Amino acid sequence: MPGIVIDGQALEAADGQTVMEAARAHGITIPALCWHPALSVDGSCRVCMVEVEGRGLAIACNLPVREGLAVLTDSEAVRAQRKLTLQFLTLNHPVDCGICDKAGECLLQDYHYAYNATPSVSNEPKLHATKHYSLGERIVLDNERCILCSRCVRFTREVSGSHVLGIEQRGDTSLIRPAAGRSLDEDPYSDNVIDLCPVGALLSRRFLHQSRVWYLTATPSICPGCARGCTVDVWHRRPDWQLQAVATHRNHAIARVTPRENPAVNGPWICNKGRDLADLLERLRALQPMVAGVPATLEEAMAAAREAIAAARHPLALVSTWGSNEELEAFKEHLGPLFTCRVKADHQRGPGEPGDDGLLIRADKNPNTSRARALFGEAPADTPGDTDLVLVWGEGFDGSTLPAGATTILLGSFEAPENVTAAVFIPLSILTERAGHYTNFEGVVSGFAPCFPAPATVTHAEELFPRLVPEGGRP
Ligand code: FES
Repeated sequence: MPGIVIDGQALEAADGQTVMEAARAHGITIPALCWHPALSVDGSCRVCMVEVEGRGLAIACNLPVREGLAVLTDSEAVRAQRKLTLQFLTLNHPVDCGICDKAGECLLQDYHYAYNATPSVSNEPKLHATKHYSLGERIVLDNERCILCSRCVRFTREVSGSHVLGIEQRGDTSLIRPAAGRSLDEDPYSDNVIDLCPVGALLSRRFLHQSRVWYLTATPSICPGCARGCTVDVWHRRPDWQLQAVATHRNHAIARVTPRENPAVNGPWICNKGRDLADLLERLRALQPMVAGVPATLEEAMAAAREAIAAARHPLALVSTWGSNEELEAFKEHLGPLFTCRVKADHQRGPGEPGDDGLLIRADKNPNTSRARALFGEAPADTPGDTDLVLVWGEGFDGSTLPAGATTILLGSFEAPENVTAAVFIPLSILTERAGHYTNFEGVVSGFAPCFPAPATVTHAEELFPRLVPEGGRP
């Protein structure tokens, strides 16, 4: 463990660390644009320059620690060098922060104000490059804003392994481009380059010009798209920036999804399915309780369900793999003794959707199979011939497998033809409207919090289950 001195503080560094890593491990921030803790060192932006006692200036991201090394991270010489570096990096940059989606979370903007904050020193016109280069259906590239840090290139080489991006040409004509004949759409992790880009060069088409980031707040959540259960931030409109008259539906809509770093589950990354949570969660909702296809109140629907459960002789429950740990445990406690319970896969792998890929994506497209199976066993979700009542919780239910004459109670969140043909339909809240935990395929438990209030006509499954128990239980 080499002892080093940073800004006069004697610190211990780990063997093999760089000054950048040792400083950050002790809460000392050295600015960085090209360096990223999960990528190899590039050393191209030069903004991490520090002063090494007796040696002059050196970049901290590529400077190994050694016993007795003493560095200054914010000396006069360092600040003077950073000012020059920032002047160089913004020489041909359009400084169009007013229309840039990255404004408010742009490192270049922050460093410019911290270390430069002066107008351009050049009298020459800025060089122009491609302002809107399509990298596929998800991402557009603004080459004028790009500082060629190569984080995106290294990501496709070192993390996703798609090798789609590279740098072509030389000097001030250098451009990030996809390899010949390739598209970034091939990479199921492509949108991570949007977060990695320290400036506003790589932009999400989905989020493009939809909101300023300071209008949004992030709620911790979990991607339910597969058994990995990646921890994410769901970004949505802040209460103090609610829209009052136009497009008010956006007050309760997902604006974007980004990874919430978690070394035990997903590191700093998520796949593109996680970015598209709105496609999963903002489908047409089923909001109306029904009895025999006729609209009813929640109380009426619950009473009809209790009656059907009390009358059944061979009831079967198909339990959701999208239910939270708390909901599954509530089901087990209150309804488990009344039903034969089987675990159902709510979602199947779609056409072209990746299976287990060795990085994050899993073939099981349900977030809580692990806890559901621990509570309800491994038996297949088939339907015994003498079943006279089926309670279906969640999606992935094939009505054609039901024995003729069996009664169905459906508990779901989205519009489906079966909702109106069921004896009882009760609408449930969704992931962004409730709190809970999921257990991923490796047994790691993560939590999620509500982003939006639940509609008045839906109920939370955890609160519903005890209310479905018939008085005195089932005979
Ligand atoms: Fe060290 Fe870019 S962060 S050179």
